[in-house]
Amino acid sequence: MVAALGRNCATSGPPYLLYTYLAYNSCVQKFYDNAVPAAGAQHSSGGVRVPARLTIGGVQIPPATVLAPMAGITDTVFRRFIREMGGCGLLMTEFTSADGLVRRKDKKAKRYLHFYGDEHPIAAQLFGSNPESMAEAARTVEELGFDLVDLNLGCPAKKVVKCNGGSGLLRELPVIRKIFEAVRGAVRIPFTVKFRAGWSERELVFRELAKMAEDCGLDAVSMHARTREQGYSGAARWEWIAEMKSLVSIPVIGNGDIRTPEDAAAMVAATGCDGVMIGRAAASNPWIFRQIAQYTETGRYDVASRADRYEMIRRYFRMLIDEGFPDAPGKMKQFASWFTHGEEGGAKLRKAIYEAKSAEAIADSVDRFFELEAELETEAVSVGAAAAEVSTLPMAAETVGSEVWD
Ligand SMILES: Cc1cc2nc3c(=O)[nH]c(=O)nc-3n(C[C@H](O)[C@H](O)[C@H](O)COP(=O)(O)O)c2cc1C
Repeated sequence: MVAALGRNCATSGPPYLLYTYLAYNSCVQKFYDNAVPAAGAQHSSGGVRVPARLTIGGVQIPPATVLAPMAGITDTVFRRFIREMGGCGLLMTEFTSADGLVRRKDKKAKRYLHFYGDEHPIAAQLFGSNPESMAEAARTVEELGFDLVDLNLGCPAKKVVKCNGGSGLLRELPVIRKIFEAVRGAVRIPFTVKFRAGWSERELVFRELAKMAEDCGLDAVSMHARTREQGYSGAARWEWIAEMKSLVSIPVIGNGDIRTPEDAAAMVAATGCDGVMIGRAAASNPWIFRQIAQYTETGRYDVASRADRYEMIRRYFRMLIDEGFPDAPGKMKQFASWFTHGEEGGAKLRKAIYEAKSAEAIADSVDRFFELEAELETEAVSVGAAAAEVSTLPMAAETVGSEVWD
């Protein structure tokens, strides 16, 4: 089972994937309990666009957009799915326990960090608090052919924090320095770090952390501009990203609350960041990277039609089944829910797929849903209704917004 490998920092306990997914989602829930307007509503880009290229170490990343690591989501199928859609510069794995990887340096490890040739450039993300294990795990990542290795200092999940991984380390800067030095000394591929701004607003560490990363020879820093204490509440503090950018000369990747191409451009304009990282929005609007690329080039972008959405879900399902993931039905349910949020009748579909027992039954429910919708659209056209409006979805901000993760 792919998900099981090396993902517990304790030797026993619930499967890491499920645990982390739930932990992250409980944070995400909080984010939407405190829903804020889409970031683009508060910032404007004044004509600034996302850069066409980002260079990290020697690795070229065109364009300067990154799929955020998301446990339970950014597996090889989702990553390739996003890559095929176009416009995403860098892919990242879900985070992986360095200790687990070192303990089980065998076939299973390779399977867990499995990726395909068309995923380059790709970064593997590791978490852990032991410098030696981190260094050894980073060497494994390099041997496996990843283009970059990333250290996670952002995960707020209690179980990870308890083992001093993820955002737990934000209170242990001397340990972080040791990890930075050990990993830097162990690999030649670019080494990056992703963190939250600090444990709490009173304990912000992003300034020291970014400078330490640069001193220790790391090649880039990414920040989700919230504190650990914040979870997903409130708005991401883009001004912290701007401040960080002014302190270091290695590339800075900004992350937090990008929901639309306008948001991405606005973050670059507001912070001067060298690249943008997108998480939740990609899960319900996988076109977002392509839309950003189009917006960069032309100042406008296409929105997905209902037919596009249907085709996209079917293709993703096909890819999941072809990959032979044992949890394909679970993932199909999860994605069918997200991808149909904001759709008329979506609640009924979600109920049907929740009750479905197999991959085929889930696919059938989705087929029925879209076929029925297509019939309704045809009827609307025949009576001269405003069919064009029915066939285009509202922009991502509305479909990606607060309900998606509820
Ligand atoms: C379900 C879920 C899983 C996540 N897993 C990871 C992870 O494995 N590693 C990590 O660094 N961040 C993880 N994150 C955080 C995201 O990478 C990102 O920093 C955060 O969602 C903010 O970006 P956004 O506003 O674009 O979603 C996760 C977030 C979610 C919602």
